[in-house]
Amino acid sequence: EQDFKNIKEEILKLKSEKNAVILAHHYQSMAVKEISDYVGDSLELSKIAANIDANYVVFCGVHFMAESAKILSPEKRIFLPNIEAGCPMADMVTREKLEEMKAEFPEAKVVSYVNSSAEVKSISDICCTSSNAVKIVNSIDAKEIIFVPDQNLGAYVSSLCPDKTIHLWRGFCPTHHRVSKFDVESVRLKYPNAKLYVHPECRPEVLEFADFIGSTAQIIKACETSEEHTFIIGTEQGVVDSLSVALPDKKFYIMDASMVCKNMKRTRLSDVLLSLKEEYGEIEVDEKVAVNARKAIFDMIERS
Ligand code: 13P
Ligand code: SF4
Repeated sequence: EQDFKNIKEEILKLKSEKNAVILAHHYQSMAVKEISDYVGDSLELSKIAANIDANYVVFCGVHFMAESAKILSPEKRIFLPNIEAGCPMADMVTREKLEEMKAEFPEAKVVSYVNSSAEVKSISDICCTSSNAVKIVNSIDAKEIIFVPDQNLGAYVSSLCPDKTIHLWRGFCPTHHRVSKFDVESVRLKYPNAKLYVHPECRPEVLEFADFIGSTAQIIKACETSEEHTFIIGTEQGVVDSLSVALPDKKFYIMDASMVCKNMKRTRLSDVLLSLKEEYGEIEVDEKVAVNARKAIFDMIERS
């Protein structure tokens, strides 16, 4: 307990000495979220990263998020406190494989989910996140679209954009994709009066049961404004943890106990301290790759 208090104090002290800003995704642990200046979903954090007035940014999330922040603000020093924190879904599409798909559908425009590498973004027309994917796809002046890498978000967008022909990549998020309709049926038997709020990275068979579908920030907002009292949350455990603290009069249950992203949970307070103290985990992006990736992310921010 004392160690925990000391480490927190040291982080806060170094943070103000260095004029650093700490960003955290909703899926981080409560301990990390508590010492952060901003907590948000992918879109909110990328907007903050683009406009932040600080030269030293510690990004508590996974690699593609810190990389996107560096692409948006190349003059700033961006740190990923635990460099092992990657996103398995982002690794499911490579530049080479995407080039092959582009050759197969030469008329198609490429929309890449921000959960992708800088290399993949650099050969995409535009990025999207889970909170703006439908809007972005609808805003594109082409009928044919290649959507990478999440097959579930892609299928969800496809169902809401009937005028588009969307070619899906077969990537998926292990944390959301592992839940099946049978798991949903069993949790609903346990909490029959609860509303089911689900992230679009879940399988279509799971989304079918949902009372609300949205990004992490959209789910949080919807729970805040809802008149309902009990919710089953179909996204990563960190969202349930934040909601339980923020809205103590309401009840939140995770859709399935397996919904914990190992990579998001790699970042500990000791890692945050190291990145402030020893300048550990600095992210660099080759400017040749960053140029086009930047256009794809900025274009997304502008349209959302
Ligand atoms: P959002 O932050 O857009 O909800 O995405 C969830 C996610 O999986 C981030 O890795
Ligand atoms: Fe990647 Fe899924 Fe973890 Fe998000 S929750 S970082 S998409 S593995």
